[in-house]
Amino acid sequence: MFEIIIYFFGTVILAMWLMLPAYIANPMAVVFGGGKPIDMGRKWYDGQRVFGDGKTIRGLIGGTACGIVSGIIQIYAVSYAASEFNISIVAPTLTAVITLSFGALLGDLIKSFFKRRIGFVRGAELPLIDQLDFVAGAWLLTYIFDPVWFTEYFISSPWIIVTVLILTPILHRLTNIFGYNIKLKKEPW
Ligand code: CTP
Ligand code: MG
Repeated sequence: MFEIIIYFFGTVILAMWLMLPAYIANPMAVVFGGGKPIDMGRKWYDGQRVFGDGKTIRGLIGGTACGIVSGIIQIYAVSYAASEFNISIVAPTLTAVITLSFGALLGDLIKSFFKRRIGFVRGAELPLIDQLDFVAGAWLLTYIFDPVWFTEYFISSPWIIVTVLILTPILHRLTNIFGYNIKLKKEPW
């Protein structure tokens, strides 16, 4: 029983560690968001906005940058732990750091494109998709640009994938309720 609990928490912590750049990029887009929308106010052929006012240049750049900085700190922390304490911890590659961060916001952006196409106004809730869009984007881009790293830590450890898919909607919800309460976000989802 004890081993199972240790294994469970170990998997949760490892999953969060591997996803950290994406987990930072996504909420930081909310913090930095505002100003010019990415679609510059333009409409698609259906008369609806391409992405809408909820997807801004500042959010995209600020979120991606924060994710990348957090990933670079991870890389340094891992090499510090190895050289100073002889502890070996899983490290993301620089490529993975970039694709996890940018991929997260690209996934979120593509989701908004399809939300507008099916007539959902900016901010309308699309359960599960709103919570997992950034995971899909982060995974897809990382798989394309660093298949070796992605295969080693995600594809060959399906429990990490399952954990991320269950954990993310919970963390996302909690973060957004917090963001709503401190008046950073318009909706609690
Ligand atoms: N945000 C941003 N730029 C991004 C992503 C997010 O500025 N690329 C900011 C916006 O202020 C946005 C908030 O973060 O309102 C919350 O993001 P999200 O829930 O993804 O957008 P929504 O406003 O809900 O819009 P949508 O309906 O398109 O999902
Ligand atoms: Mg939303």
